[in-house]
Amino acid sequence: MLERHPIVAFLNRLMRSHQELKYRAVEVAFDDQAEVFAAALKEAETSGPATLSLKEGFEYPGYYRDVEFHIKPGSYFVNELAGLQYHYTMNLFMRRVAHADESNRSYVNSLPEPEDGLVERVLDLACSVGQSATALVERWPGAEVHAVDVAPAMLRYATLRANGMGLPVHFSRQLAEDLEFEDGSFDVVFCYILFHEVPQDMARRIIREAHRVLRPGGRFVVVDFMSRPTSDPAFTVDDYMRAWDREFNGEPYSVAFVRGDFTGALAEVFGSVVADHPLEGGGSYMSMRVATK
Ligand SMILES: C[S@@+](CC[C@H](N)C(=O)[O-])C[C@H]1O[C@@H](n2cnc3c(N)ncnc32)[C@H](O)[C@@H]1O
Repeated sequence: MLERHPIVAFLNRLMRSHQELKYRAVEVAFDDQAEVFAAALKEAETSGPATLSLKEGFEYPGYYRDVEFHIKPGSYFVNELAGLQYHYTMNLFMRRVAHADESNRSYVNSLPEPEDGLVERVLDLACSVGQSATALVERWPGAEVHAVDVAPAMLRYATLRANGMGLPVHFSRQLAEDLEFEDGSFDVVFCYILFHEVPQDMARRIIREAHRVLRPGGRFVVVDFMSRPTSDPAFTVDDYMRAWDREFNGEPYSVAFVRGDFTGALAEVFGSVVADHPLEGGGSYMSMRVATK
C-alpha cells in the first residue's frame, strides 16, 4: 500500500541510488591508490602491536557467500580493499560519526562488566574493521582482547587500524558459530550488529558458542536492532525500513531478526538473567542485551 504512493516510491528510489552512489564514490576514491593501500595492508600483517592469524583453505558458508550485504559490490570479502571501503562508507552512512569510533566507544564504555569485576580476556565477535575491538582495549588496557571475523579483507584493515592506534588486538579468521577458543576462556564476549545479518538457526548456534567460551559469571553483550515478536500486530516505520532493507538493501535476514524473539533465544541458552534495554544514543531502534553465564 505504501509503495503505491508516489512519494514513497520516489523516496525508495532515492535511497537505493544513494547507496549505489556512495559505494561508487568510495571505490573511485581509493582505486587510484589501490596498490599503495594493498602494500600497507600486507605490511600490517607482520608489524605490531596487533596480531593477525588468517586460516587457509576456508570455505565461506552459503548464507554469507551468496549475499551482497547492504548491496555493496563484493560484500565484505571480495575486494581486497573491502575493509577500507567499509570504514569510509560507514562514515558517510553515519554522517561522519564513525570515523573516529565514537559510537563503538560509547557502546563499549556502557556495557556492564562481570559482577566480580574480573576482566582478563575479552572477545569481539564479527569485528569487521575492529572499531569495537580497539574500544575494548581502551576500556580494559590490561586485558587480552581477541577479535574474529570471517573476511580477511576486514581483518587486514582492522589490523592496520589497530597498529596505527598502537593497540594490541589479536585478530583471527574464525566463524562466530564455530570458534576455536577453549571452553570458559573469556570474561566478556561482545557482538555489535552481527545478529541481524545471519539466519535464525545460525543466530542460535552463535549464542551457544558465546555461552561455551564464557567462564561462569562472564557476560555476553549484544548490540543490535530491537526485536518484537510476530504476535505484536503493530506495523511501524522501523518495520517498514527493515522490510525496505530486505527488499532493496541486501539484508535478507533482518526482518526475521526484528520480528523474532532474540532475547528469548538468549534466555534459552543463558537462563533467565538477560537484560534488554534501548541503547543509549542508539535512536529508537537499537537495543543492548546482556546475558550472564
Ligand atoms: C556489520 S559488520 C559488524 C560490525 C562490527 N562488529 C563492528 O564493531 O564494527 C558484520 C561483520 O560480520 C562478519 N560476519 C558475518 N557473518 C559472520 C560469521 N558467521 N562469523 C564471523 N564473522 C561474520 C562480516 O564479515 C562483517 O565484517
